Amino acid sequence: MEVIISKTYDAMCKEAAEIVAQIVNTKPDAVLGLATGSTPLGLYKELARMHREEGLDFAQVTTFNLDEYVGLHPNHEQSYHYFMNENFFKHVNIPSRNIHIPSGTTSNYAAFCEWYEQRIEDCGGIDVQILGIGSDGHIAFNEPTSSLGSRTRIKTLAKQTIDDNARFFAKASDVPVYAITMGVGTILEARKLVLMANGKKKATAVAQAVEGPVTSMCTASALQLHEDATVFIDEDCASELKMVDYYKWIQANMPGAPKK
Ligand code: PGA
Repeated sequence: MEVIISKTYDAMCKEAAEIVAQIVNTKPDAVLGLATGSTPLGLYKELARMHREEGLDFAQVTTFNLDEYVGLHPNHEQSYHYFMNENFFKHVNIPSRNIHIPSGTTSNYAAFCEWYEQRIEDCGGIDVQILGIGSDGHIAFNEPTSSLGSRTRIKTLAKQTIDDNARFFAKASDVPVYAITMGVGTILEARKLVLMANGKKKATAVAQAVEGPVTSMCTASALQLHEDATVFIDEDCASELKMVDYYKWIQANMPGAPKK
């Protein structure tokens, strides 16, 4: 796993955007796995800027989002459909037929989950999956004790996640209890994983994910099983990592590293 520590949140988002842009530039019909939450907002802003000012072209790109709240209509302001449209899709040129977000309002969740998995496969698999991390160590809505082999399914949110996300709703009891989410196993099949986190509030979760044991108690630790996972964090978020000096040493010596 590669750990890239940036001085600021903005710098961290630019680094992550470079990776995505590089993939889209070399493979115009790339399949992007996307995440919601406050963390990737800067990434989407930077990608939209690259599209506007540098001609980064998403015309052939396909996207799959990680998750959605069960019960929220796509027009609901806290739905992830709404979030993605407002913060990314309406600022770039991804054809709407190429956009996939789990449905929070389907009448048949089992069939939808199966279709979603099949659709990812039919599109050739995900080239790069963007991930945030919850303060309980979750990736997507794979809460602690989720199987590391799990697939797209309904998941009951942890109390910690409901508390964390209550800031977006009028009251905590408005936060949906269920979500539809890609599984850890689904995520691990992406060819590249990019996890982003910033701030002290994520420092413990990131330390557990990067340097702790691989455990379903912190589903982000499953990234340790992936052959191409990069973690982008800022200085505050790196504060509980034991190997910070080593990660910085690697970064400092990167220009002279043997070509892969
Ligand atoms: P956040 O959420 O980016 O809003 O902190 C991350 C997550 O819960 O995965």
